[in-house]
Amino acid sequence: MTLAFAASPRKLSPMPEKKLHPDVAARLLRSATKVMKNAYAPYSKFRVGAAILLSNGKIFSGCNVENASYGMTNCAERTAIFSAVAGLGPKIEIRAVAIVNDRGLPCAPCGACRQVIYEFGPEATVFFLGSHGPREAHICELLPEGFRLR
Ligand code: THU
Repeated sequence: MTLAFAASPRKLSPMPEKKLHPDVAARLLRSATKVMKNAYAPYSKFRVGAAILLSNGKIFSGCNVENASYGMTNCAERTAIFSAVAGLGPKIEIRAVAIVNDRGLPCAPCGACRQVIYEFGPEATVFFLGSHGPREAHICELLPEGFRLR
C-alpha cells in the first residue's frame, strides 16, 4: 500500500537567508568567546560558549553548565536561549547562533539544542566549527523535519 501525504507547507530545502553582516557575525563570536570563560565544566573540561542574535538586534549569550548527574547538563546554546526568553519573554525570534569552545574542536550543536534553536528560530543561521573548519548552516540543514506544534 502506498501512503499519500498532503503537500507539506514546509520547503524541502532551506530558505536562502539574508546574509548576516560580517561585523555582526564577529560580534556574535566575540560574545560567545567571552561567556565561554564562565562555563561550569568540571566533568568534561570542555568549555562551550554560545551567543544568539535576535531579530530585534539584541544578543544573548550562555555557557555550558554541567552536573554530577551528567544528564542534567545544560549546553551553552540552550543556556543562551533560555536566558533570552527569561529576559525578553516568549516572543523572541532567533536570527543567528554562534558556538565556540576552548579547544578549537569541531562542535556542532547537539540534537536537543537543534530542536530548541528551531523552536525560536526556524530560519536561524548557525555558525560553528565543523570537522572541516568554520561552518555556517541553516538550522533546517542541521535539523531536517524539526518538530512544531504551531
Ligand atoms: N556542549 C555544549 O554546551 N554545546 C554543544 O554544542 C556541544 C556540547 C557541552 C555539553 C557538555 O557540558 C560538554 O559540552 C561535553 O559534552
